[in-house]
Amino acid sequence: MKKFTLSEYTSSRLIYGCMRIVGDNSSYDRAKGKAALKTALDVGYNHFDHADIYGGGECESLFGELLTESPSLRDDVILTSKAGIRVGDLPNLGDPKCYDFSHNYLISQVEASLKRLNTDYLDLFLLHRPDYLFNAADVAETFMQLKASGKVKHFGVSNFSPSQVALLQSALSESLLVNQVEINIHNINSFSDGTLDQCQQLGITPIAWCPLGGVVYPAWGNTFSSDDEQRIETELAQQAQQYDCLPWQLILAWLLKHPANICPIIGSTTPERIVAAKKAFSLDYSHEDWYRLLEARNGQPVP
Ligand SMILES: NC(=O)c1ccc[n+]([C@@H]2O[C@H](COP(=O)([O-])OP(=O)(O)OC[C@H]3O[C@@H](n4cnc5c(N)ncnc54)[C@H](OP(=O)(O)O)[C@@H]3O)[C@@H](O)[C@H]2O)c1
Repeated sequence: MKKFTLSEYTSSRLIYGCMRIVGDNSSYDRAKGKAALKTALDVGYNHFDHADIYGGGECESLFGELLTESPSLRDDVILTSKAGIRVGDLPNLGDPKCYDFSHNYLISQVEASLKRLNTDYLDLFLLHRPDYLFNAADVAETFMQLKASGKVKHFGVSNFSPSQVALLQSALSESLLVNQVEINIHNINSFSDGTLDQCQQLGITPIAWCPLGGVVYPAWGNTFSSDDEQRIETELAQQAQQYDCLPWQLILAWLLKHPANICPIIGSTTPERIVAAKKAFSLDYSHEDWYRLLEARNGQPVP
């Protein structure tokens, strides 16, 4: 597994995403999720991505079970969790779903995550989606309290625009470590909206969620037509033959080639896929093929 330096940590370049590990929360799906986590650990993933809302908290609890069974594992893994998306009807019936970065809410969500994960600290805590009503100075104070209490080591954001990152960073005395955004063949906004440029400039690690969206399953907010899909599939099939790999491994190689050092989050619960994702590192993916795939995606050459 390729590694990279993330503050004082050595993190696997592929991050294991825990959003789907409890499936429908049946004992069968939970056992499958636990097996997926063990496979990920066995093959060198040491960075695990959570959120308070994944599986209604059950995904963190399942990981907590693993830590109860093997407490020494805690020192070997980087645990990221996120909060800030408040589901509807909470705390009061009729309350809308919203984003909430208020002090008490964030503190209580982190504490609940720690309890479920059966750990005393998060290595990384991310704001899940920007709260349009956030006050940067207040969030900075909340972060500092979480740090001083030892409950969180480092901070980052998710789905933040470059200006939102700049705003929050301007109020913080320490550096945001990551911005976790959707990056896949369908959603390449980060290539041109300044997100990846800012990451390179400020030393922020870009983490790609749903890296296979638009290829192995429909992208969020899919705007691909069947013609688009056909063109991409044809190009991928050709390149897969050339590189002797599977089409989805090329999609990962396509992301890995970007100079911002994108870290894809692998969310599969299928052991073979968790293992096979690593092949993306061994592909000597050419500049020209990168653009061929972009051209297939866009349906036209670059201007
Ligand atoms: N920050 C955010 O707002 C945000 C939003 C969404 C997700 N995330 C994070 O990103 C992680 C990854 O997202 P994701 O779970 O959508 O990841 P993904 O790895 O792009 O997709 C996983 C899904 O695709 C299927 N899949 C994977 N490889 C496949 C293949 N070769 N052929 C067919 N199906 C395949 C998986 O099924 P199997 O399990 O059956 O293999 C699973 O249903 C999540 O776990 C979460 O940690 C963050």
